[in-house]
Amino acid sequence: ELQFFFPREHTLALIKPDAAKKHKDDIMQKVKDAGFVISKIKEEALTREMAIQFYKDHEGKPFFNQLVTCMTEGPSVIMVLTKENAVEDWRQLMGPTDPEVAKETSPESIRAQFAQDILSNAVHGSSDREHALSSIECIFGEIDIN
Ligand code: PPS
Repeated sequence: ELQFFFPREHTLALIKPDAAKKHKDDIMQKVKDAGFVISKIKEEALTREMAIQFYKDHEGKPFFNQLVTCMTEGPSVIMVLTKENAVEDWRQLMGPTDPEVAKETSPESIRAQFAQDILSNAVHGSSDREHALSSIECIFGEIDIN
């Protein structure tokens, strides 16, 4: 099997509350079409503590409070996605942070198709492998994934 030759990688992917309400099925379809294995999934609202931990690199930025509020206002779909090169491939599938940029540069991306604006931008993904592991541990309480 191919996965024997190419090492699997995990990333944390999240459908933000706003998009989870409106576009969950369409976004899940794109995840599956792109060949990701959904190793873990749960639907739950992030607590403020979780959101702050999650975005601690952005603490102090002018949009930090808005970002935390937007992420805690309802249930998110939170997933561990697994495949070769998962971190980078999920970022590619999401597209650029700002949907206006996404529409210009990557019209097939999730943000081009389903994001409202730079804050309610449909999905989140870990920025690198280290963040992926710490976010997975923060949300799922373990990093032991089959
Ligand atoms: S950075 O600074 O380049 O790391 O920022 P970026 O990864 O592009 O964005 C990090 C998250 O912050 C949100 N964001 C904003 N919200 C409101 N207003 C503005 N101007 C803004 N810029 C960035 C954005 O939704 C990102 O959330 P995630 O969940 O990582 O997509």
